[in-house]
Amino acid sequence: MTSTRSCVLALALTLALVAPARPCLSGRGSRKTSEPYCLANDKDPYVKFSTKTSYSSVRGDLSPEDLVPSGCTAAQIWLLNRHGTRYPGTGDIETMKVFLPLLKGKILVADFLGQGDLCEADVAALANWSVGHLNETWNNVLAPEGEEELRDIALRLKSILPDLLQKPFDNATYSFRHTKTQRTERSARSFAKGLFGDEDGETVYMPAPIDKDPLLRFYKRCKKYQTEVDDNPEAVKEMIWFEEGPLMDEVILRVSKRLGIVVTFVEMRTMYTACRYYTSWNPKEMSPWCAAFTHRDLQILEYWQDLKGFYEDGYGHAINYEQACPPLKDLLEHFRDVISGGETTKAVLYFSHQGALMKVYSALGLWKDDTPITHETDPFSSRLWSSSDQSPFASNLAFVLSRCGPEGDWVVTLAQQEKLVTMPGCGKIHCPWEDFFRQYGHHLYCPFDEICENNSTRIRTEGLESHGLTYTVV
Ligand SMILES: *[C@@H]1O[C@H](CO)[C@@H](O)[C@H](O)[C@H]1NC(C)=O
Ligand SMILES: *[C@@H]1O[C@H](CO)[C@@H](O)[C@H](O)[C@H]1NC(C)=O
Ligand SMILES: *[C@@H]1O[C@H](CO)[C@@H](O)[C@H](O)[C@H]1NC(C)=O
Repeated sequence: MTSTRSCVLALALTLALVAPARPCLSGRGSRKTSEPYCLANDKDPYVKFSTKTSYSSVRGDLSPEDLVPSGCTAAQIWLLNRHGTRYPGTGDIETMKVFLPLLKGKILVADFLGQGDLCEADVAALANWSVGHLNETWNNVLAPEGEEELRDIALRLKSILPDLLQKPFDNATYSFRHTKTQRTERSARSFAKGLFGDEDGETVYMPAPIDKDPLLRFYKRCKKYQTEVDDNPEAVKEMIWFEEGPLMDEVILRVSKRLGIVVTFVEMRTMYTACRYYTSWNPKEMSPWCAAFTHRDLQILEYWQDLKGFYEDGYGHAINYEQACPPLKDLLEHFRDVISGGETTKAVLYFSHQGALMKVYSALGLWKDDTPITHETDPFSSRLWSSSDQSPFASNLAFVLSRCGPEGDWVVTLAQQEKLVTMPGCGKIHCPWEDFFRQYGHHLYCPFDEICENNSTRIRTEGLESHGLTYTVV
């Protein structure tokens, strides 16, 4: 945040707090006529927290005929699943441990002095709040809620896909794979426990994970993406502009006014982090930190995070989705091999990260608006791109291949978060294999290193070597 903004905010806030001449040390209740927002009384709290959204608050519910049309038999499921709800990384853990207890103290003092607009119940909840057992060893670890999410997804899929997921484990029938992280390993295990029970689920064979898995974390190996997007602050300038813009100022001001203290951008962001994470660990109960925000604030913050996903992993830069062919090639190969009669695998089950999921569904053309979202887009206008709906914890893309009718026609059905999705270029929920292949078959051709300019040193030095000139492209 710029220091200019801090000054403007501090000034605006001083006016806001001082101008309506509040009697000092007035008792509660003597201050406001119109009712300010009270989380404790909110029957329908706002729970769309972008990529920290709880799976349970956005998922759908499938019946057997949804995935496998009547008259058809399921032949294979190919699933790409994000890990479930996790704990934050060490950076966020540190920041929360440092800032939140101080903020809590300041808010309680302000309330005692009759400042701020929080209702009594919200203040009481905050007074009872503590940082809990949060500590650095939790760094990115799958939370108990995350284990439950994955196990429950497996149980529900198993009940509607008996031909695929009710068989006992064996290597020829199931193919599990997860990345080299605790959160995807435990997610895969939790899913397996849902399918095979706790004991067998814990021991079924899963191949040793690969560092920067070229299939599940392809973007970690894509030089062009690393250089132009991942390591390039310019790539997310729309997000930064939004962050420095009037709507975010509005949020900071409103939060400050509600809490009766001057909060900085970083403090506001830390409270948002706390609100999102603590709620995701126990979605039945809103974190008291969410009381700092009105629905409008949370929608503005959600849009800010939508911009982040859009530019880091979505349509914001072509390389984001152009590099996503390895998993799509894998999907096409599996389905093609089933159709041509050779493959007996019933379930291909992959456990990865938001960065992979978003790039893959962007490569499929899902949730693409007519115009790119920018810092100037109205966050409240309707649009397809929504990181809360499309990339919550445990988000997933489930492709099911089925064989139908006397002719034995093949169809592909896609569900995301257990909601049916019409694939662009198919026009129907149950997409005939020919249409699916016409639309997406080109991903079988996947010159990853070329797309990613993975070997650009050689290309760019061509013609220079003869002059004794070489230069290295990072
Ligand atoms: C599956 O394959 C692995 C590795 O080849 C092997 O160790 C394991 O015993 C196999 N499990 C079953 C049930 O076939
Ligand atoms: C380039 O491609 C190779 C082979 O696919 C891969 O192993 C390597 O990690 C890539 N290089 C970079 C810098 O990502
Ligand atoms: C990069 O180019 C060199 C020189 O042609 C070649 O030997 C090497 O295998 C290439 N590496 C990759 C990852 O394609």
